[in-house]
Amino acid sequence: MAKFIIQGRKPLKGEIEVSGSKNAALKIFPVALLTKETIRVFNVPEIEDVFRAQEILVGLGHEVKKVNKGVFDIKFKNQKGFELPADLVNKFRASVMFVGPMLVAFGKVIFPHPGGCVIGAGIRPIDLFLDAFQRMGAKVKIKDNYYELTAKKLKGANIFFSKISVTASESLITTACLAQGETTLKNCAMEPEIVSLVEYLNGCGAKITGAGTPTIKIKGIKRLRGGEYKIIPDRIEAGTFAILAAASNSGEVLIKNCNPNHLEALWTLFDKIGVNYILTKNSIKILPSKKILSCDAATHEYPGFTTDLQSPYTVLMTQAHGSSLIHETIYDRRLLFTDILTQMGANIIMADPHRVVVNGPTKLYGRKLVSPDLRAGAALIIASLLAYGKTEIDNIYQIDRGYAKLDERLRELGADIKRI
Ligand code: EPU
Repeated sequence: MAKFIIQGRKPLKGEIEVSGSKNAALKIFPVALLTKETIRVFNVPEIEDVFRAQEILVGLGHEVKKVNKGVFDIKFKNQKGFELPADLVNKFRASVMFVGPMLVAFGKVIFPHPGGCVIGAGIRPIDLFLDAFQRMGAKVKIKDNYYELTAKKLKGANIFFSKISVTASESLITTACLAQGETTLKNCAMEPEIVSLVEYLNGCGAKITGAGTPTIKIKGIKRLRGGEYKIIPDRIEAGTFAILAAASNSGEVLIKNCNPNHLEALWTLFDKIGVNYILTKNSIKILPSKKILSCDAATHEYPGFTTDLQSPYTVLMTQAHGSSLIHETIYDRRLLFTDILTQMGANIIMADPHRVVVNGPTKLYGRKLVSPDLRAGAALIIASLLAYGKTEIDNIYQIDRGYAKLDERLRELGADIKRI
């Protein structure tokens, strides 16, 4: 199994490019089931989760052709079965995005519970999806750990999500496009990836209003055309690089091809803790700062401070002067990785699964670690780059799931990171 070997404390400076958004890319492949026309997708990040999504699509009878670097054509050839393969579905949570479009396209879908990062107690539930599909007329059977959903024709419905969920919002938007009549979704997530998906769908003939607000209305249409989709820059990757540069505080770092408007909550925190930065329309420059101060942070649905940047920010707080309370409000296992930071020398007290107090600044020391999940994995890379001595990070599939060739890109900044 591949590992990262990192020799910490090298000065970081230079330029780094942001890839297309993982969480936007993973939603476009299932949409291909809703049209017989070609979809050309640009700025596709070459990451493991995207490869798995493409494998699912090919298994269902689509052709996925690489046209150029980061450019793929997706086209329906002929349908092969109703089942989503367990070995692929187990690997990433966003595989659940295939369920609605399969129900629309084939009238039936069989699938096991989706996998992905273990960041919530037990398995991450899919009740919001199942309830909503039922409201639209689907029949749901659960047997031998498999779900079987059937529907001759889905009907528009009034759906209130009892929790704000990005994937459930996206899944129901996509599914309702070809349903009979109008669907109203209330208490939706407002992430930029949702707005981008809706802009694409409307460009292909869908009739969706309200994306980026909590209430979204979808008027069912008969047919969705193909089209071109340019994946937006990955705001989590951009934020991760910005936090890395701020924590290293060793030189000027220019983060290119991003949209700083998607990270306003992070800039507010940076203002409070004294990070020196300059934003343009599509870049972020992190300049050396005099002193990084501590500041509490609580995760929140967009446009609040995203849970996906909580782990890198927690590492940054180990280098800040003072104490900070980190409150993870979305997931109850996303702070467990702080135990590894403590083993590296951080002074972190866990109050409960949702809250830790970080006392800084502390020196971190390299050691042998295992990446517990995708975002914690990225945070541990930041910690290793700040640490004295050598760190070995195992289970890096979890990092490759969401960051394309991260080692190569970090080396461009001067990091000493090897993949063995
Ligand atoms: N939830 C339910 N029932 C459901 C679905 C969700 O109770 O049926 C709960 C979850 O347990 C959680 C909350 O709702 O407490 C939010 O979960 P959400 O559904 O929003 O998460 P998601 O859509 O599965 C997406 C991103 C996550 C990101 C969250 C932020 C994708 C593929 N994933 O997840 O990204 O953390 O939104 O809310 O878009 C990552 O990229 O590393 C990642 C985990």
